[in-house]
Amino acid sequence: MIVILFLLLIWAFSSLLFYTMKLGISPMPTSSKVKRRLLALSPKLHKVKIIECGCGWGTLLFALAKKYPDCLIQGYELSTICYLFLKIRLLFYPYPNLRISRKDFFKVSFQDASLIVCYLYPKAMQRLAKKKMREGAYLLTHTFHLPGYKPIIEQQMKDVYSTSLFLYRF
Ligand SMILES: C[S@@+](CC[C@H](N)C(=O)[O-])C[C@H]1O[C@@H](n2cnc3c(N)ncnc32)[C@H](O)[C@@H]1O
Repeated sequence: MIVILFLLLIWAFSSLLFYTMKLGISPMPTSSKVKRRLLALSPKLHKVKIIECGCGWGTLLFALAKKYPDCLIQGYELSTICYLFLKIRLLFYPYPNLRISRKDFFKVSFQDASLIVCYLYPKAMQRLAKKKMREGAYLLTHTFHLPGYKPIIEQQMKDVYSTSLFLYRF
């Protein structure tokens, strides 16, 4: 039994490490302070689709599902361990408006989404800036900006990292 648990732990750790190296970012969650400010910044929306790109452990995803009960919240995550964790979390907190897919968000269309939420890294933000967005859609992010676009709102937090928050409209 202990050996199986040990092997499972090794597999989980290696899998997390593998996806961190493959994707160029770890599943580091948004802090609760930043999450509260992001949610306060997020636009009023009804009966639309919201996408989270790389939902990690679900910190923003579940908060979005709670804030927008009449919207479809679609989260994409590639890391196996995070994806399994999200599925288990969904069993305990079964938001009917929440969908989680194990997909590369760069390979899906954003054309039907009215709000894109993410916390990524500079290279991913460069790629995201090239994606075709729906006219009028919003993008809400923090820490790294979207190159080539001027945010409609930019705020800086008074936390240890002086985290920047950005809201864009296409
Ligand atoms: C810094 S974490 C942010 C997690 C969560 N959004 C949050 O704010 O708490 C970024 C996540 O994006 C995922 N990710 C990176 N590139 C991805 C891709 N192309 N498709 C799906 N998920 C991706 C990573 O596995 C990681 O879990």
